[in-house]
Amino acid sequence: MPVSIVIGSQWGDEGKGKITDLMSPDFDVVARYQGGANAGHTIVWEDEEGNDEEFVLHLVPSGIFHENVTCVIGNGVVLDPKAVLDEIEKIQSLGIEVEDRLKISHNAHLIMPYHKAVEAAQEEERASASDDDAIGTTGRGIGPAYTDKFARSGIRVVDLLDRDVLRQKLRRSIEEKNAILRDIYDAEALDVDRIVEEYVEFDQRIDSFVTDTSKYLCNALDDGADVLAEGAQGSLLDVDFGSYPYVTSSHPTAGGCCTGLGVPPTAVDRVLGIAKAYCTRVGNGPFPTELDNEAGEALRQKGGEFGATTGRPRRCGWLDLVALRYTSMINGFNDLAITKLDILSGMEELKVCTQYRYDGKKTRRFPSEAQTLEKVDPVYETLPGWSEDITDVRHFHELPTEAKDYLAFIGEYLDVDVGMVSNGPRRDQIISDVEQPAAA
Ligand code: IMP
Repeated sequence: MPVSIVIGSQWGDEGKGKITDLMSPDFDVVARYQGGANAGHTIVWEDEEGNDEEFVLHLVPSGIFHENVTCVIGNGVVLDPKAVLDEIEKIQSLGIEVEDRLKISHNAHLIMPYHKAVEAAQEEERASASDDDAIGTTGRGIGPAYTDKFARSGIRVVDLLDRDVLRQKLRRSIEEKNAILRDIYDAEALDVDRIVEEYVEFDQRIDSFVTDTSKYLCNALDDGADVLAEGAQGSLLDVDFGSYPYVTSSHPTAGGCCTGLGVPPTAVDRVLGIAKAYCTRVGNGPFPTELDNEAGEALRQKGGEFGATTGRPRRCGWLDLVALRYTSMINGFNDLAITKLDILSGMEELKVCTQYRYDGKKTRRFPSEAQTLEKVDPVYETLPGWSEDITDVRHFHELPTEAKDYLAFIGEYLDVDVGMVSNGPRRDQIISDVEQPAAA
């Protein structure tokens, strides 16, 4: 009855969607436990004519493309009802059955237009401050929706199913948010009636998907099902453990799985960390190994490092093992999948950050508070690169020695096995027979 968790170990965009999609056929259920439509999980496959097809999932779990898998959107997700219904329609238009295969938690909180409006006003205000401290959010209303959840004034999926309750709650919320928009941010108020009418219409469309997903998952586990829990964003964006305040408002880390799905921690038997072979970050906040130069631009172009949700260029930098060691510690990774190794082909040398210098001293401690992280300097080790294109490699032994050494260096530093290597966006571009270095 085990649960396996797939977690981003950096600042998001590590390629969790591809790994979850690949692993899905071995699972009965794939369940998203946090975040919202701020995520963008890209799946690429080859169609019958041999052309690459791509689909970016924002809310529906990455198991939806495998017909024997049931997908769950858990209570920990903040759900934009319009976005999820549009996404369901798009998936159905590919001829994929969704109706009986997707379950949405009745307890998930909803993202409403006023969450996006408040977020936009807040970000504008922060950006215009003398120290420009905007978070650089995705603009999907995530922070304000989680704020309402914890302030106990949120509207949940279950409320969509009762028009009278919804009308009453929406009216109260919109009036409150309008006061904030008008009086604090000097922003335009929203039309209460228009929003109420738009949202009461969602009840019939969403009804058949809504259920008590915690009960469903616990029963499935009791019946021997295998569940794959899919995290969104990355551990360094966790609201408690990330580079606060430059974080998202949920828990992408392992603990978020239990509270975000309503499954017991004793059911979890594997935590798989996904790490890109280098680092990227979208939005603002400290990034010690950032390459604000030609090398960073080269990674961005070759790696197609542009946000799957917002299209923003991602900031790029060298692999940061200090940060990865920290996220491995808080998540307890059993193994790691390294993605986008192919992007490093052609680089003469590869730098890997193994320590930070802070206040004149070297340290392997990752300070998650932004004000300290901003002041650290990365200390690098330099490893030899490789020139070969590795996108057609399917077995570990075919990799250039330098690529094998790069992977071994990561595994040894973290004391975690690298079990999978992704070397291209397509499903078949995966190396699963990674040999572990002999113990010293
Ligand atoms: P929010 O989650 O939209 O509130 O954004 C907060 C921070 O998390 C911003 O820096 C975003 O760029 C970042 N972020 C949110 N979702 C993702 C993601 O899926 N990948 C990478 N960064 C993300």
